[in-house]
Amino acid sequence: MEPKKTNPPRNFGLERELEVYQHGATGKKLSIPVSLSLLEQKAKEALDPRAYDYVTGGAGGENTMRANLEAFYRWRIVPRMLRDVSARDLSVELLGAKLPAPVVLGPVGVQGIIHSEAEVASGRAAAELGLPFVISTVSSRPMEEVAHAMGAGPRWFQLYWSKNPELTASMLQRAERAGYTALVVTLDTSMLGWRERDLERSYLPFFSCEGLANYFTDPVFRAALKQSPEKDPAEAVRLWASIFTNNALAWEDLAFLRQHTKLPIILKGILHRDDAARAVDRGVDGVIVSNHGGRQVDGAIAALDALPGVVRAVNGSVPVLFDSGIRRGADIMKALALGARAVLIARLYIWGLAAAGEAGVRDAVLNLLADFDLSIALSGFTSCRELNASVLARADDSLHAHRSGQP
Ligand code: GLV
Repeated sequence: MEPKKTNPPRNFGLERELEVYQHGATGKKLSIPVSLSLLEQKAKEALDPRAYDYVTGGAGGENTMRANLEAFYRWRIVPRMLRDVSARDLSVELLGAKLPAPVVLGPVGVQGIIHSEAEVASGRAAAELGLPFVISTVSSRPMEEVAHAMGAGPRWFQLYWSKNPELTASMLQRAERAGYTALVVTLDTSMLGWRERDLERSYLPFFSCEGLANYFTDPVFRAALKQSPEKDPAEAVRLWASIFTNNALAWEDLAFLRQHTKLPIILKGILHRDDAARAVDRGVDGVIVSNHGGRQVDGAIAALDALPGVVRAVNGSVPVLFDSGIRRGADIMKALALGARAVLIARLYIWGLAAAGEAGVRDAVLNLLADFDLSIALSGFTSCRELNASVLARADDSLHAHRSGQP
């Protein structure tokens, strides 16, 4: 694959701090609140309550969502001093490309319920930052339109693997033609999880034709309908619901994807080390440790707790990415220290999208990068490569060390 052109490494932390403080001095308003709780609050105020709950919610009692966040809290960074951190480079190599920071805007479907510019806004913001944007199969705008809006920005295509193999093959071809450079196959959503908030409201956006742009523009999908989706949207939704996912898939079926795309294949939703080992055996190009932000299996292992086992099983043969629970710079540091090459973010940039469209996405991500840069620097590191498990202490160990006066 061609190496991508990326922005030069930047001093994200100080640049962003300066920008924010200068806004105060000149009386200008920031596009979004810096505080994450205020940002989420602003997003909540901007959104239809059904859309807010759809994005915010998780499976069942939302215990997996809680576990994802708590897992970060149990790891503590042990900062080191006097190590000259004046020159820093947060870039990482991934799938033959160099990213300016180890952050990917992960797949979030139906962004049209969040903002009128939907994935076009998120994709543009990612392109401006030189970070990959992963468009969802269930995006509100067709993948070609988003690709066009992103220009040369790095982009990946996320696949919900349909029951209809011709449709899957067609989407893969379209993604390649539109310049998507990796395929992210979501394995954990062969059915939608039991999401109480959405069930309570009887709300699933797809039933109002939201998030079906890639289907309605697909020649294979359209050919399977008696009337066009424009003429008979109800029939189109029924067809979509009948083929959206496929819970009969098994490891052998990965060969189908390999046959139908030249793109690197990254499996998303890996939590067990044996699945990680199988993925490597099947020749995939990367895995993403994820529990879908706690949206699928309630009571599941926190993604961060699953990460070290997966990293061990993969044993450096392909990159391991991390998804589910990243909110702050310290979280990125912890995931990288436990072996992730890069992290995916989702709700975080969606709050930015809800609050202020493209500028909101850009600023939410810039704030995260700034926080990460400062966390790394203030802990005594200058690059992502230096992060490993020795950077961290378990919360109990650090308390013990503190009590006994040990370093
Ligand atoms: C679909 O990916 C969802 O989590 O709603």
